Amino acid sequence: MRFDLHQVLDSARDGVFIVGRDHRLVLFNHACEELYNVSRQDVVNKACWKLSDFEKSWKEAARAGGRISYGELGAKKERMVLPHKSGKQVWVETIYTPILDEENNEIAYVMGVIKDITELKDMEREKERLQQEIGKIRGELGSKYDFSSIVGRSAPIMQVMKLAAEVAQENTTVMLVGESGTGKELVAKAIHYNSRRADKPFVALNCSAFPETLIESELFGYEKGAFTGAEKTKPGKIQLAYGGTLFLDEVTEMSPATQAKILRVIQEREFEPLGSVKPQRADIRIIAATNKDLEALVKKGQFRDDLFYRLFVYPIVIPPLRERPEDLGPLIDHLLEKFNHDMAKRIQGISPEALGMLKSYHWPGNVRELQNVMERLMILSKGEVIQVEDLPRYVVESMKLNHSREPETNDGIPPGFSLEDTVNQFEGRIIQKALKQCGHNKSRAANLLGLSRSTFRYKLSRLKGFENRN
Ligand SMILES: Nc1ncnc2c1ncn2[C@@H]1O[C@H](COP(=O)(O)OP(=O)(O)O)[C@@H](O)[C@H]1O
Ligand SMILES: [Mg+2]
Repeated sequence: MRFDLHQVLDSARDGVFIVGRDHRLVLFNHACEELYNVSRQDVVNKACWKLSDFEKSWKEAARAGGRISYGELGAKKERMVLPHKSGKQVWVETIYTPILDEENNEIAYVMGVIKDITELKDMEREKERLQQEIGKIRGELGSKYDFSSIVGRSAPIMQVMKLAAEVAQENTTVMLVGESGTGKELVAKAIHYNSRRADKPFVALNCSAFPETLIESELFGYEKGAFTGAEKTKPGKIQLAYGGTLFLDEVTEMSPATQAKILRVIQEREFEPLGSVKPQRADIRIIAATNKDLEALVKKGQFRDDLFYRLFVYPIVIPPLRERPEDLGPLIDHLLEKFNHDMAKRIQGISPEALGMLKSYHWPGNVRELQNVMERLMILSKGEVIQVEDLPRYVVESMKLNHSREPETNDGIPPGFSLEDTVNQFEGRIIQKALKQCGHNKSRAANLLGLSRSTFRYKLSRLKGFENRN
């Protein structure tokens, strides 16, 4: 087959031109015509002064007098904008390559290859815009999860904030211990957004939300084909958190095998996605959380002791809301303001009686429960001030019980006192205590209280029924 160089070059998508020593164009392919919006008859054999940017490069080459090496000139790249006939601006990148006349050891020609990089330029611009946006959002998130977002000025919560602020800047693993709803995740975010990793992701994994078999693929990710159904490679939370913080919530819910793998991540900063043998670096800071007595689980052999020591480097205990009643007032004010804003309402406040009841309630669900109660109150409340009648029944009932705690310190029997409720409540507390003491083993708790197992179970179910009552 005959081979026509011009024809071949004309079908190339990139622009190709060649200029001789006399600055005259000797070749100008079809793509060049399109890009420069000139016809080749008008430019070939003419000095290419129109291609001013090329000229610069040619002069450079000429100045070098042919003594320039391929390596030095070959890499010369230039980016510029060409006004396209469509009216749009076209970004091009030209790579100049000298063609040497080996006999005379001088540059005989210079070849330019021009690529339309408009799409690439658009992508670069979009990337820059997204990066700016991410920076802005991270900044907003940062202030949302600043320590100032943690409401409450009681001594215990101040201590939590002090400990958290002191460790934030380090890469130290932090263990947050506290009942559900006490604000563990909130504190974890405050630590992250006040750390040197603040502009990198905060990624949370709730270990109790996944069956054991799925936790590992959530954590470590997997390679395509690692198991049936793994149709494409999926990054795990460790990869997603790269450079940032991984929050391991309910960390006690990990299987022994996963515990061993997490231990390796902490010790060696390495892991392998499922189905891969290539170790990857884990550049993460770990913040773990639990509402269980981790030490007790270690003693029972349900949690690895070596992992326990790695996680318990810097424990922060967040006390339940009932142990810091001073925080209730500020939290309620904060929630009133938040929900007024979110729901476009104008509820002024809470009547003193209703506030008193909220303060004497024992808040088993802590701040999360308070948040839910306040939200419901503000949806349902008709007036400008929340009244006792608006409160959920279980809060009011618990108020009666609390009143009855110390009837002998009062002058008489307080209003609303009920002997039955008082006895039930006392019994409930004893049962809870026994259960706690026996590590929630019902037979042992029954034994401890001198009850048969069936009586104990009956009392326990009654207690649960009472707690769930609304
Ligand atoms: N001290 C606090 N100030 C303001 N909001 C809080 C506080 N503690 C908890 N919250 C809110 O209560 C809810 C539950 O907190 P979260 O951090 O998820 O608790 P945990 O992780 O301990 O279960 C969240 O909406 C959180 O923002
Ligand atoms: Mg939580």
